[in-house]
Amino acid sequence: MLAPRKTLWSTPQSAIDTAIAFADLHANDVVYDVGCGDGRVLIQMASKSIPVGSSSDSAVSPCDLPRNSQHHHCHRFVGIEISPERAEEARANVQRAKHDNRIGQHVSIEIKCANALEVDYNDATVIFLYLVPRGLRLIRPILWSQATNQDTVLNRTTDSRDHPAACEKSQLNKRCSNTRQVQQNNNNQRPRRVITYMNPIENKVVLKKELCKVGNVEGAAFPIYLYHLG
Ligand SMILES: C[S@@+](CC[C@H](N)C(=O)[O-])C[C@H]1O[C@@H](n2cnc3c(N)ncnc32)[C@H](O)[C@@H]1O
Repeated sequence: MLAPRKTLWSTPQSAIDTAIAFADLHANDVVYDVGCGDGRVLIQMASKSIPVGSSSDSAVSPCDLPRNSQHHHCHRFVGIEISPERAEEARANVQRAKHDNRIGQHVSIEIKCANALEVDYNDATVIFLYLVPRGLRLIRPILWSQATNQDTVLNRTTDSRDHPAACEKSQLNKRCSNTRQVQQNNNNQRPRRVITYMNPIENKVVLKKELCKVGNVEGAAFPIYLYHLG
């Protein structure tokens, strides 16, 4: 287990708001909550999503959201949860949030019942984790090795760009221009962001750290951390 399962410990609103700010969400982002519990982090993040083409100060949001600087265009969210009951609860909460117009119809929140240690994170651009230190230790090499593998594949496909002589024939030239495109896309990509609440990831460079107040607990404030994957 990456976190206790009996009692659900949830990320408070203030930390979710900070996570949204750390993530700097764009339309092409895909946000994962690893150990998503009842789905509240993803629902809260998704509730700030407005469709591409809307702007936070001109267009009318389809779900009458109050406007603030946290609005974004990200519309793909994935929750990973090992407990079947909790995954089911998260799905029901997502359905309810859509039904109540707290999240727009353009948003997709997929809840997968799976062991987070066996998941492919290659399409994730933002990964949120509220896990115990041991859980973070176990998942760290998985996240970072998947990031390294992805970079290796991209670098291999760009090798021919560095050797134009290998691109004599038109077929090869076409492939070379494709690989140039891949590299351009790769260069345009923003770094993938990892955000942890409460516990840091050991031996990784923390780019940002903030203390988030917990509403109903006098004087309590817990940390949230930002890292770049790779
Ligand atoms: C501390 S709760 C966090 C819930 C939610 N992310 C939040 O921040 O409000 C951790 C969740 O991780 C789940 N979990 C524990 N081990 C897991 C594993 N190996 N794979 C997927 N989920 C796991 C637990 O069932 C629990 O719901």
